[in-house]
Amino acid sequence: MFAQSALEKALHFLRQGGLVALPTETVYGLAGNALRVETIARIFEAKNRPFFDPLICHFASVERIRQLIPGLTADELRLLRHFSPGPLTLLVPKPDQIPALVTSGSPYVAVRVPNHPMALQVLAALDFPLAAPSANPFGYISPTTAAHVEGQLGGKVDYILDGGPCQVGVESTVVRLTANQGIIYRQGGIPQEALEALLPGLAWVPASSLEPSNPTAPGAPGQLSSHYAPAKKLWLSPTPSEVPAGLDPSDAVFIGFNERSTLPYKQQYLLSASGSLAEAAAALFGILHKADAGNFTEIVACLAPETGLGRAINDRLRRAAAKRG
Ligand code: TXA
Ligand code: MG
Repeated sequence: MFAQSALEKALHFLRQGGLVALPTETVYGLAGNALRVETIARIFEAKNRPFFDPLICHFASVERIRQLIPGLTADELRLLRHFSPGPLTLLVPKPDQIPALVTSGSPYVAVRVPNHPMALQVLAALDFPLAAPSANPFGYISPTTAAHVEGQLGGKVDYILDGGPCQVGVESTVVRLTANQGIIYRQGGIPQEALEALLPGLAWVPASSLEPSNPTAPGAPGQLSSHYAPAKKLWLSPTPSEVPAGLDPSDAVFIGFNERSTLPYKQQYLLSASGSLAEAAAALFGILHKADAGNFTEIVACLAPETGLGRAINDRLRRAAAKRG
């Protein structure tokens, strides 16, 4: 299927406590042994990530999650079983074996089973879960190809396992369940509508709508307003042919959902010419990387429809636009 030696190299470094960039269906992760504190510290250091922003633990299967965390509720198991392997991350009570550094001191740990054959094969061969944030410097655009990882973190990882371009293209949906609520910490590859359809008895609410001081609803550290950002300024435009005040289109790149601009932009990209949200999500970070590397001063983007995967796409674009200067 894929070069055995590549897989063996990845396993070798991971068993030694090293860092390996691993392909998943969403984005590439910067993976290391989730049970080793020194390895976790190296992950934060390589990403220049603040210690208050916790990491997701990746497992080969829901059964492996249960071995480490036996007390999952019926709803939690139902959710995990339905969407795994896939772009769903669930916050569950942290077992003692997982270092507090992984969860930034939170009593909840984020777990998921990624849907990528290489990631699954690596995880199945290891007897520990892998902590893996997206393999980008903190706050920058997430990587959806091995080349993106090489460009952004090349010198800081022991090995990059190349699994081709990521098929989903936006990160996993992060949720936590209470007896009567489904709390969404991050919109992502599983659309909110699919969560609501599976567990319609729960009220689905964004974590940002809850009191951060409520001890049963800890703040959502990943919900920083500026994130997923290119180095260049990114502006949001309400329609393709309106230009943000003072901006010169001939020195800018335009990123539309499915509609081109009539303005004289230096370059234009469409997330999906046919208007497919799945295609747009898969293309998003790659286009942002190209726009950021190209010979333009600024980036102008239009939002996707605010439904299904469009929520995750728009969340990333809004956060990218929140970075200024
Ligand atoms: O698709 C993904 O989830 C990718 C791939 C590599 O699996 N990973 C990823 O990790 O996006 P990262 O670290 O870039 O984003 C993890 C998000 C952050 O917003 C973080 O704050 C949140 O999950 N998170 C992790 N553990 C948490 C916890 N214990 N409580 C609240 N939020 C948590
Ligand atoms: Mg990230």
